[in-house]
Amino acid sequence: MVTGTENLAVYVHWPFCLSKCPYCDFNSHVAADIDQACWRRALVSEIGHAAARLSDRTVTSIFFGGGTPSLMPPSTVAAVINAIADHWSIDDAAEITLEANPTSVEAQAFADIAAAGVNRISLGVQAMDDAALRFLGRAHSAQEALDAVAIAQRAVPRTSFDLIYGRPGQTVNDWRDELTRALDHIDGHLSAYQLTIEKGTPFFAAHRDGAFKMPDEKTAAALYEVTQSILTAVGLAAYEISNHARPGDESRHNLTYWRYQDYLGIGPGAHGRICIAGNLHATENRPAPADWLSAVERVGHGMRRDEAIDAREAAIEMLMMGLRLAEGVDRTAFVERTGMPLDQALDQDRIAPLCETKLLTLDERGVRTTARGRPLLNAILDRVTDLRDAA
Ligand SMILES: C[S@@+](CC[C@H](N)C(=O)[O-])C[C@H]1O[C@@H](n2cnc3c(N)ncnc32)[C@H](O)[C@@H]1O
Ligand code: SF4
Repeated sequence: MVTGTENLAVYVHWPFCLSKCPYCDFNSHVAADIDQACWRRALVSEIGHAAARLSDRTVTSIFFGGGTPSLMPPSTVAAVINAIADHWSIDDAAEITLEANPTSVEAQAFADIAAAGVNRISLGVQAMDDAALRFLGRAHSAQEALDAVAIAQRAVPRTSFDLIYGRPGQTVNDWRDELTRALDHIDGHLSAYQLTIEKGTPFFAAHRDGAFKMPDEKTAAALYEVTQSILTAVGLAAYEISNHARPGDESRHNLTYWRYQDYLGIGPGAHGRICIAGNLHATENRPAPADWLSAVERVGHGMRRDEAIDAREAAIEMLMMGLRLAEGVDRTAFVERTGMPLDQALDQDRIAPLCETKLLTLDERGVRTTARGRPLLNAILDRVTDLRDAA
C-alpha cells in the first residue's frame, strides 16, 4: 500500500480578504485587525507539529491559497517557506504558488513575494470587463487586473489566470470574445470556472429572489464547448475539468490532489491526505480562524479530524479526484495507493453502459472520462464510485 516516503505537497491557507465577494463560499473572512506576529508564529508552529510525524519527505510543491494570500506580509511567506525547508528537503524544481487578487496595491508586493521564494502567482482576474467585475463584487477594474498580471509575469517565472464564465446574461459570443481577448495576457496556465451559486452566499439569496437568472443548461453546455474549442486550438487543452495548460505547465501542486498523492494542510480549514506508518490519514483543520489560532497556541496544531481511512474510502476518493483529469486514474497508482486492484473496485454492470456510450474509457492503462463524458462528470461519478460490494 502506501509507503510513507512519498513526495509531499504543502497547502497553506490564509483566510483573510479585504472584502467578501458575493459568490464566494471559500473559508475567507474580513478581519479588522490581524495580529501578524501571532499568525506567522502559528503557521510555523503547525508546520513543526506536522514534521514531527512526517519525516523523510521531499516537498515538491507549496501552495498559498485563500482567502487572499497576496495580503500576507512577504516576511510571513518567507517564514513559512523557511520553516518547511527546516524540516524537509525542498525539491530543486519545487513549484511554490501564491494566489493573488489583481489590485494595484497587491501587485506592489509581488517582487517581495518572489524574493521570499514564490515562483508562481495565480491571479484572480475573473472577468475582462468592468460591468461584470462590478457584478462579481470585485475590487479591481479589468485594466488594473491586466496591469497586475504584467507585474506578476515580470516578478515570477510562471503565472496562472482565473476567469469565471457562465455569468447571468453572458452569451456564447460574449464569452468567445472575452476569452479571446484574455489569451493575449495568458502565459501557460488558465483556470476557467463556470459560475456556481453556492448556498449561504449573497448570490444564493439574490438568485433565489429572482434578482438575476443563470444561463440555462443548453447555454451552459455551449459555453463549456466554446471554452474547450478555443483553448484547445491555442495549445491550452484542459488537463482537468476547469484547468488548462500548455504541456508541462500544469499546476504540479493541484495535480497532487487529483492524483491522490500526499498533501499536508496547514492553516484554518486546510485538509490533508498523508501516509503515516503505512496508513492513509485524512486530516481536517478547524475552519474558524480564531479557533484554529487558539488551538495552535494551546496544542501546536489546529486539527479537528485525523483518522486513518480504509481502502474502500480511499478508492472512492481516488476515483472522484482522478476522473476530473483528462489522464484519468492509472491502474498501477490505484492499487499502490488504495491496496485494491481497479477491476476489483469497479462495478462492471454500472461501468459497462458508460463505456458503451463512450462517456468513459476502461483499458489496460486505467479508467478515464472521454471529452464527451467530462461535462457529465457528476452523473458519471455517481455510478463509478458505487463500488462492488465485494470490494
Ligand atoms: C480561493 S478563490 C480566490 C483567490 C483570490 N482571493 C481571488 O479572489 O482572486 C480561487 C478561485 O475560485 C474561483 N471561484 C470562487 N468562487 C467561485 C464560484 N462561486 N463560482 C465559480 N468560480 C469561483 C475564482 O475564479 C477564484 O479565483
Ligand atoms: S473570491 Fe477571493 S477575494 Fe473574494 S471573498 Fe473569495 S477568496 Fe476573498
